[in-house]
Amino acid sequence: MSPRTATTAVAVHPLLADRWSPRSFDATHTITDEELVPLLEAARWAPSARNLQPWRFLVGRRGDEAYRRLLATLVPGNQLWAGNSSLLVAAVAAERREDGTPHQGAAYDTGLAVAQLSVQAHALGLHAHQMGGFDPERLRVSLGVPDGYRPLSITAIGALAAADLLPKELRDRETAARERRPLTETFFAESWGDPLPVGTDASPS
Ligand SMILES: Cc1cc2nc3c(=O)[nH]c(=O)nc-3n(C[C@H](O)[C@H](O)[C@H](O)COP(=O)(O)O)c2cc1C
Repeated sequence: MSPRTATTAVAVHPLLADRWSPRSFDATHTITDEELVPLLEAARWAPSARNLQPWRFLVGRRGDEAYRRLLATLVPGNQLWAGNSSLLVAAVAAERREDGTPHQGAAYDTGLAVAQLSVQAHALGLHAHQMGGFDPERLRVSLGVPDGYRPLSITAIGALAAADLLPKELRDRETAARERRPLTETFFAESWGDPLPVGTDASPS
């Protein structure tokens, strides 16, 4: 258990409680195939509606051209720190099914695949930090994403480095308390807003 571990009413699996999104990545760490392939497999084996697997991914390792292009699409606030990560993974969703009809659930399924990738990263002793702060049009052009596919996120993955290596403003965010809306405001029962009665009176953050 680390100081970043989630405060939960009862214990949840350590992979979930201990996962968090750092900004301080070790710029000397390089990702091996032994780390990379399980990450890809964890995403590939996510469930999806009718097993349509609407996700595709663009993957760059620090030092290669894909990584440079992905990094360049990030907003400045993310570029500040994400360039020390070992891997950048853009998640892209197919907006149409093979028969050409719109796929309303594509983003839902693709987010789930990224969640699996993030948890697998943690299981490997790495950390993952998802980002919506990037320019999807720039990504589309610079990495050749075809029409009908929508870039949704870029995830930085790597080994954790000490928070005090970050610039001051980022350091404060790195060590700020992790919080969540209470259970009672998140899970409802008979009607919207009625807290689900469960066997704990805790309102964990
Ligand atoms: C879809 C998505 C987009 C996000 N975009 C950004 C981002 O652009 N920049 C950033 O620093 N963090 C981003 N985050 C990280 C969240 O801020 C972070 O997950 C949240 O504060 C909870 O912290 P935790 O992951 O450590 O529990 C994003 C997370 C998700 C899931």
